[in-house]
Amino acid sequence: MFETQLKVLLLAFKIDVGKHVRHFLTLKDYAKEEILEILELGLAIKKEQKSKIPHPYLMGQTLAMIFEKSSTRTRVSFEAGMYQLGGHALFLSNRDIHLGRGEPVKDTARVISSMCDMVMIRTYAQSMLEEFAAHSKVPVINGLTDSYHPVQLLTDYMTMMEHGKDQNAVVAYIGDGNNMTHSWLMLASKLGFELRIATPVGYECDPAIVADAMEFARISGAKITITNDPKEAVQGATVVTTDTWISMGQEEEKAQRILDFKGYIVDEALMKRADSEAIFLHCLPAYRDVEVSETVLEGGQSLIFEEAENRLHAQKGLMVWLDKHR
Ligand code: CP
Ligand code: NVA
Repeated sequence: MFETQLKVLLLAFKIDVGKHVRHFLTLKDYAKEEILEILELGLAIKKEQKSKIPHPYLMGQTLAMIFEKSSTRTRVSFEAGMYQLGGHALFLSNRDIHLGRGEPVKDTARVISSMCDMVMIRTYAQSMLEEFAAHSKVPVINGLTDSYHPVQLLTDYMTMMEHGKDQNAVVAYIGDGNNMTHSWLMLASKLGFELRIATPVGYECDPAIVADAMEFARISGAKITITNDPKEAVQGATVVTTDTWISMGQEEEKAQRILDFKGYIVDEALMKRADSEAIFLHCLPAYRDVEVSETVLEGGQSLIFEEAENRLHAQKGLMVWLDKHR
C-alpha cells in the first residue's frame, strides 16, 4: 500500500518535469508547493527506511560533495543518504582537489558534472555556488554558504511537521543574522508562517534578503517581525530556535561577538516566555551555555537529535525530487 502511494507521488511529480536542470541553491527559487513536495517525498522515504523497505531510487548515481568548510551532519547525511538510495557519494575536500589550488570554478563544474549525477557544495560565497551551477549539467545543492543553509531548513520544517508544529507556527529565532536566519526568512515567507527574529544591534540580517522575504510574505501572508529584543520575539512562540554566534569563517571575531551577544542566550527563563508546549530546534553544532543553555539543549522541549537525523531523510527527498525534475 505504502509503496504504491510513493509511486503515485513520483509519477505526479513527473508531470512537471522541466527541460532544464533544477538546482537547490536557495529556497528563494522554490514555490511553497515544491517545498512541500520535497518534504512529502522525504517523509515517505523515511517510512520506507524505518520499515526496512529498500528504496534504490538513485541506483547507480554518483553525488559529488565539495567541502570548503568543515561538516559532520552534512557530510554523513548526504553520503549515507545517497548510499541508501542505491548510489554513491564522493567526498571532495578543497584541500585535495584542484579547486583549492586555483582551478577555475567553471572548469571544475564542467568536469565534475560530466562524470557525476548531482553535486553538493559547502562553501563561503553564494556567488561561487551560482557560478558552479551555471556551468553544471547536473543539479547542484547548497550544503551551506555564508548566505544560506536551505537543506537545514527542509530538515527543521520536517521536524516541525512531525510534531504538528507546522500548524499555526510562530517561530522565534534568537541570535545572529546569518545563513540560518536568512534561510528561516525564505522558508517562512514562502510557506506563510509567522517568524520573529531577534538579533543584537549590528548583527541584523542582510537587508536585501529581508526585502526579498517581505515581498514573498506579501503573497503568502507570512508575518515577519524583526527586533533587537529576544523577550519580545519569543513571547508565545511555538518554536524557538538559535544558531552559533560564531559561524565558520568568523573565528577571529569570537571574543567581540561573545560580548555583543550578551543577553541573547536561549535559557530556561527565555523558554518560559514561549508557548508551554514550544519545541526547541538548533541546527548544531551547539555551544553549550553560549547561545543556548545546557538545560534547554538537553531538556524535554529540545528536538535537536531528531532534527539532526532528519537531515538524512529530508535530503533523500530532495535528491529524489531533483532527479525527477531534470
Ligand atoms: N547543521 C549542519 O550543517 O551541521 P554540519 O556543519 O555538521 O554539517
Ligand atoms: N551558521 C553556522 C551554521 C553551521 C551549521 C555556520 O555557518 O557555521
